Amino acid sequence: MKLLITGAGGQLGQEWVHFCENNQIVFLALGSQDLDITEKSKLLENLDSFNPDVLINCAAYTKVDHAEDEPDLAFKVNAEAVKNISEICFLKGIKLVHYSTDYVFSGDINDRFTFPKGYPEDGITNPVNEYGKSKRAGEIGILESGCTYLIIRISWLCGSYGDNFIKTMLRLAEERNELKVVNDQYGSPTFADQVVEQTSRLLLENCEGVFNVSSGGITTWYELAKEIFRLKKKEILIEPVSSSEFKSKAARPYFSKLDIQKISTIPGINIMHWQKGLKRFLNTF
Ligand SMILES: NC(=O)c1ccc[n+]([C@@H]2O[C@H](COP(=O)([O-])OP(=O)(O)OC[C@H]3O[C@@H](n4cnc5c(N)ncnc54)[C@H](OP(=O)(O)O)[C@@H]3O)[C@@H](O)[C@H]2O)c1
Repeated sequence: MKLLITGAGGQLGQEWVHFCENNQIVFLALGSQDLDITEKSKLLENLDSFNPDVLINCAAYTKVDHAEDEPDLAFKVNAEAVKNISEICFLKGIKLVHYSTDYVFSGDINDRFTFPKGYPEDGITNPVNEYGKSKRAGEIGILESGCTYLIIRISWLCGSYGDNFIKTMLRLAEERNELKVVNDQYGSPTFADQVVEQTSRLLLENCEGVFNVSSGGITTWYELAKEIFRLKKKEILIEPVSSSEFKSKAARPYFSKLDIQKISTIPGINIMHWQKGLKRFLNTF
C-alpha cells in the first residue's frame, strides 16, 4: 500500500512519517512547503507522479482563535481544499484518510449528561466557532464527493512532535510555582501514535466511514494537568478555575469527549484509558 501524506510537518503528519519509516511502508511525505493543498494543479501533479493507494490528509488550518479573524483562509484550507482533494480521490480511485475534530459538535456542557460516553459518530453537528465550522464543511465535502474515505475525528491531540497541552504543562512547571488550569472543559487526550496505529488498522481492515479515535475515560484539563505533575513528580501548585478566567477569541467546547465504542469493535484495536496512555507517553517522551 502506497501512502501520500499531506501536512507532513505537523504534529500528526510527523507521527505518520515516523510510523511509515518504522514499518517499511512506501510513502511520500509532503509538508506545507512541498505542497499547498489549496493548489489543485500541484496536488494533481503529485498524485499523478506518485500514484498512491491512499492519501492521508494531515494538512489543516488549526489556529482556532485566528480563524475568527480569517475565516476565509480557514475555509479555504479546511473546506474548499478538502472538497477538491476528495473529488480528485473519487476520480482517481484513491482512498482518502482525513482527520477531523470534536469541534464539529457544539460542546454544550449539558451534552455531558446526554452523551455520557461521548459524542457518537452520527451525533448532530453544531460547531460554535469558525474553525469548527470550516472542519465540518470539509467533512461534508468528503461525504458528497463519492470517494472512499475514512474521516477520523480526534480531540485533545498529544504527540511527541509539535506543541500540545502536555508539553505546555511541562514547560510551565519549569517556569512557575503556581498555575491556574481550566476545570470545566471535559474530554480525553488522544495520543498521536495511537491515532496513526488505529488508522493503519482501519486501513488494513478495509474500513470506511466516520470513526472517533481517542483514549478511554473522561477528564478535565485540570485533572489532566494534575496527573501530569503527579507522574513527573513536579512540585507545583495548581488551581482549578472556570473557562471564564481564560478569555479566548473563539468559543471553546465545554464537552469534547468522543464515543469510541465503534472503533473498539474493530479487530486489533486496543483502547487505552487516558491515564495509562499518559503514563506511557511521559515514559517515552
Ligand atoms: N491538535 C489537536 O488538538 C487536534 C484536535 C482535534 C483534531 N485535530 C485535527 O487533526 C489534524 C492534525 O492536526 P495537528 O495537530 O497535526 O495540526 P498541526 O500540527 O497544526 O499541523 C497541520 C499542518 O498542516 C499544514 N498546513 C496548513 N495549511 C496548509 C496548506 N494550505 N497546505 C498544506 N499544508 C498546510 C501546517 O503547515 P504550516 O505549519 O507550515 O502552516 C501544519 O504542518 C487536523 O486536521 C486537525 O484539525 C487536531
